[in-house]
Amino acid sequence: MLRRFDLEAGGDSFSFKPETEPTIDFWLAKYPADKQRSAVIPLLWLAQKDNDGWLSEPAMRTVADRLDMPYIRVYEVATFYTMFKLAPVGKSHIQLCGTTPCMLRGANDLKKVCEKKIGKKMAVTDDGRLSWEEVECLGACVNAPMVQINDYYYEDLTPESLEEILDKLANGVDVPPGNFVDRQTSAPEGGATTLKEDALYDGSRNSVTGLPNLPESNAEEDPQSEAKGKPDSNPPTNVDREEPNKEKLEAAEEGAEATEDAEKQIEGARPEALEIDGKEADDLKRISGVGPKNEEQLNSLGIYKFSQIAAWTPDNVQWVEGYLSFRGRIEREDWVGQAKTLASGGETEFSKRMDGDDAEASREEGED
Ligand code: FES
Repeated sequence: MLRRFDLEAGGDSFSFKPETEPTIDFWLAKYPADKQRSAVIPLLWLAQKDNDGWLSEPAMRTVADRLDMPYIRVYEVATFYTMFKLAPVGKSHIQLCGTTPCMLRGANDLKKVCEKKIGKKMAVTDDGRLSWEEVECLGACVNAPMVQINDYYYEDLTPESLEEILDKLANGVDVPPGNFVDRQTSAPEGGATTLKEDALYDGSRNSVTGLPNLPESNAEEDPQSEAKGKPDSNPPTNVDREEPNKEKLEAAEEGAEATEDAEKQIEGARPEALEIDGKEADDLKRISGVGPKNEEQLNSLGIYKFSQIAAWTPDNVQWVEGYLSFRGRIEREDWVGQAKTLASGGETEFSKRMDGDDAEASREEGED
């Protein structure tokens, strides 16, 4: 698009406002003395701000003189970037995004509002309050359709809301920018539709969740580290060895209560626990998907036997998935089906491989 500047509207001279000078110094200080031209875009931007939102030819010349640049070099920059306006604009200049996402969400209707309220593109209303133009994507497509008014975004617009905004601005009333529907930033309209459980935000969930593959949990879970007698990478410190004091005991009790509260909030039904001698426990790691850490957690719930898992109802599965933060995984990996086979004395592909030469590889595959 050919962009020409308005040679007449800008008069003969321009000077920066005194209060802009410190900002100019700030930008110039960013570049070495022999590279001051690098500040051409920030200085043109400041000139535009000081010139009622557009760049007159004298303003461009002033910038060129400040930076010791040939005028043509500054003209080239100013005419290339559409952020620089080359003709007078209204006190509120509307940049309406007409690119595909905004167009599909009604930008053409918004254009009609601008034409009705303001006039042709780049025309300025007689009172000098409003002007508009169409621009390409402003990077807020998720809130389409939208406009930028001076420096701010007005999003999720309808012809009605834009008309109201323009009416207010035409009457000298400020309109705060932002969303014009009930939504927070780019969240769903009307409020969140997922991740709504209170337990996610009240801290109680922390007591039942853990991050996988943390270095210390790796050390704990690595079956070889014990076998090979590797030294503990985190030997207990003096602090660890201290006798529990009153505060610690209280904190532990509070933690237990929080765990209990969190468990109450898990959906589904907690499976029945078993109290058995550890020696009678099945090797739950023979179920593909259950690693040492999961087995430990299952044991802490009183689940030791394949027969227990084989008897889980869908409600039990839902509860355990919630407890282990494994949404959908137990069902996907068919722990119940595998447990049924193993409980009846059969073998699964995975358990067979565990017994074979590639047991180690199988174990890794099964790790959580
Ligand atoms: S298409 Fe309008 S902001 Fe991206």
